Amino acid sequence: MRIVLVGPPGAGKGTQATRLAEKLRIPHISTGDLFRANISRQTELGKLAKSYMDAGDLVPDEVTIAMAKDRMAQPDAENGFLLDGFPRNVSQAEALDELLKSEGIKLDAVLDLEAPEDEVVKRIAGRRVCRKDSAHVFHVTYSPPKQEGVCDVCGGELYQRDDDSEETVRTRLEVYHTQTEPIIDYYRAQGLVVTISAMGPVDEVTGRALEALKSGQ
Ligand code: AP5
Ligand code: MG
Repeated sequence: MRIVLVGPPGAGKGTQATRLAEKLRIPHISTGDLFRANISRQTELGKLAKSYMDAGDLVPDEVTIAMAKDRMAQPDAENGFLLDGFPRNVSQAEALDELLKSEGIKLDAVLDLEAPEDEVVKRIAGRRVCRKDSAHVFHVTYSPPKQEGVCDVCGGELYQRDDDSEETVRTRLEVYHTQTEPIIDYYRAQGLVVTISAMGPVDEVTGRALEALKSGQ
C-alpha cells in the first residue's frame, strides 16, 4: 500500500505510523525524522533544516522534495510506503503526484488524523523522543518509558524536541492550517481521503486506522 498520513503536529502521526508500517509491512518514511537524523549527523542539510524547524516553518520545498524522493527510491519502498509529514503543502503534493505518475503508480489512501488543538498541545508538551532515533516516541504521562529518560527500544537518551516549545508549537499549528490543510482538499478531489479521530488510546486509534484503510472510508 502507498499511504500518506496527514494531521496537525502532535496528533500522533509518528506514533501511528510506526504501528501501521509494521502491520502493513511497509517502511515508515518521516521527513521530520529524516531531517532530525541529518541534524544529529551535522550534515549541511541538517544545518539548513534546523533553522527552519526551530522557527516552526517548513523547510524549503526543493531540498525537502529531493530528500523524500531519495528515500522513496530505496529498495524497501518499492512495493509501498507510509509517508508521515510529506507532502506538507500543495506544491509538494503535486511533486509527489508527478513522481508517482512517472513510475506508473498511485497512492491508495490519505489517512487524515483529527485531534482538537487542546489535545495536541498536551501531547506535544509531554512528548519525549530518543536522541538516537526520533521515531522512538514517548509521553511522560500517556506512554511513559519503563525507565525515566531512557528509550525502551534502544536505550538512547530521551529529550524534548527543540521545536516543542510553546511559541514554536503555535507557529507550527498556524503553518499546518495555512499550508498543510489545503492538501486534504487536494486529495479529496482525487477521492483518497479517509478521516479518523485520533482521540483515545493509541491501540484504539491504530485499530480505527486499519479498519478505515480496509473499507476506504
Ligand atoms: P514533524 O517531525 O513531521 O512534526 P509535526 O508534523 O509537527 O508532527 P509531530 O511529529 O510533532 O507530531 P506527530 O503527529 O508525529 O505526533 P507523535 O506521534 O509524536 O516535522 C517537524 C518539522 O520538520 C516541521 O515543522 C518542518 O520544519 C520540518 N518538516 C518536516 N517535514 C517537512 C516537509 N514535508 N516540508 C517542509 N518541512 C518539513 O505524538 C505526539 C505525542 O503524543 C507523543 O508524546 C505521543 O506519545 C503522544 N500520543 C500519540 N498518540 C497518543 C494517543 N492516542 N493518546 C495519548 N497520547 C498520544
Ligand atoms: Mg512526528
